[in-house]
Order: sequence, then C-alpha cells, then structure tokens
Amino acid sequence: LLSVTSLTPESVSHILTRATALEHEDPLERAKRLAKRRIALLFYESSTRTRTSFELAAKGLGADTTLVSSLSSSIEKGETLKDTGLTLRALGAEAIILRHNSSGAPWLLERETKLPVLNAGDGMHEHPSQALLDLRTMLAHLRGGAETVTADTLAGVTVAITGDILHSRVARSNALLLPKLGARVVLCGPKELLPDLATEAGPGVEIERDFHKALEQAQVVMMLRIQAERLAGLQLDLEEYKAKYQLTEALLAAHAPKALVMHPGPIIRGLELTGEVADGPQSAILEQVRHGVAIRMALVERALTAGVKA
Ligand code: CP
Repeated sequence: LLSVTSLTPESVSHILTRATALEHEDPLERAKRLAKRRIALLFYESSTRTRTSFELAAKGLGADTTLVSSLSSSIEKGETLKDTGLTLRALGAEAIILRHNSSGAPWLLERETKLPVLNAGDGMHEHPSQALLDLRTMLAHLRGGAETVTADTLAGVTVAITGDILHSRVARSNALLLPKLGARVVLCGPKELLPDLATEAGPGVEIERDFHKALEQAQVVMMLRIQAERLAGLQLDLEEYKAKYQLTEALLAAHAPKALVMHPGPIIRGLELTGEVADGPQSAILEQVRHGVAIRMALVERALTAGVKA
C-alpha cells in the first residue's frame, strides 16, 4: 500500500473486514498466518505509533521483524535507499514497511526491490495506514463499526481537519480517502499552513479559514500538530495561532458539543489543543492508536499475500 489513491470502497471494505477478523482471532491461530515470514521496518524518521503498531501487527501474525533506523545503521555512512532495500531483500525480507522524509520514496523502494512496500509516511505526501485507522475510528463512532463501506457510507459527515495542513501527509491521505466514501472534508488553518493551492486535494474538499465555522459544521474534528521540523524559515506567530485555532473545552462546548475529536499524534498539549480536550470525553485519540494495530495486521497480511513480484 503506497497511497490511498489506489483504494476503492471494495478494497477498503476488505481491509476493514480482515482487520476485525484478525483482531478477534485466537492469538495462537493468528500467529500461524505469517509464521517464519520476514518483514523489515525501515524508518528514516522518528515514530512511536506507526512503528510500534506495525511491529505488533506483524508479530501478532507470527512474522519475524527487523527494525532498521537511519540513526543506527549504515544509512548513517551514506548507503542509499536502493542499496539498503536490496540489502534487506538479500537478508530475506519479503516486505518492507518504510517511513521516509522524502515524498515518493516508497515508490522508488518498491521499484528497485520488487518487494511489497507499505508506506508508513513519506515526507509531506501520504500516510495511508493512518487514514485507514482514522476511518475505522470514525466508523466505530458514527456508523456502528461498519466494515462494508460504499461510496455513500459517510454521506452527511463533515470532517474538519485543522492546523498544519501544508506539511501533513495525514491530512492529504484523509482528504483523498474520506470523500471516496461520501464524507465532506473541510480544511481549516491560516494561510501560512493552508495555502489556497490546497484546493487541489480534489472533490469533496473545501477550505474554511474561520475555526468556529468549521467546528459548527463538523461531526469529526481532526486536529493536527504544527510540524516544527518542517517549518524551515516559515514565520508563524504561535500566540496568534493559538488564539485563532487552538481547540479548547470552551470552543468545543460552544461550537461542536457532539463532535468526535481526533488527532493522529503526537499531540502537543497547549498548542493545537488543550490537555483537557485531549483527555476529555469527546477525544478518540487513544482509540485511534488501538485501531492502528488491527488495520496494520490487515495491511501486513495483504502485502505478504501479494508476495514478491520478481
Ligand atoms: N501518527 C503517527 O504517524 O505517529 P508516529 O509519528 O508516532 O508514528
């Protein structure tokens, strides 16, 4: 899985159905599914949720996993992505889970290694497994945990994605995936973090710069972290940002008292949202993390079923 663009309601339904089946399967039986299969996790950027849940997912299916991270490997000595991938393949890896700081890196790795690659986040481009676990979280709350989805399963649902849209692969993957299932996506943030160009996200996606108005329309409020590591010279007045876009208990009570609050993490308490909101009754942030393991089991199984291409 490189991108959500290749997904259809049918393929999403299959992933959701397998996620639930694997989640409920007897752990001893589940661990036979990919017994002795080898999966490499190749991480060029830091990660807590994605790395750990992919690893737990692969191990839960019985696979052997190896972690290679840029700080403790020969990547530090200048080895290229292609050569690292070929080395992992020579060592027996049958699939690679890749997080990389460059957009498009998973496509290069798949082309060069001919192995199934799972995109665990590429630069500012996509984070497809995050969008799928976000979808599963929304379905659990809004559609009774539906697993079979169609082009109108999320009709009537508005998801307000707010914050650093410009640098967010999570925002892009959600903005590409959710409208395929009928949802309306409203992007909200200041011009510095949400240029007008963001309308390129496509059908079903709109911009609303007024946070209060975005909240009033939303059944789901997805807050994003300001990615300080990618700001590179961009001037942003954080106090002004907080005054206009920080999600507080008072704002939620006034404008979206029933909305589900989501955040891909890591959260920065006191910046994009308050600690009270993160820990509050409308927050599904830790549920998202839990859905990640089931979704990633389905994705790892799918990748290994596809097998080596050449
Ligand atoms: N949501 C997410 O990608 O978190 P990590 O960076 O911790 O993996």
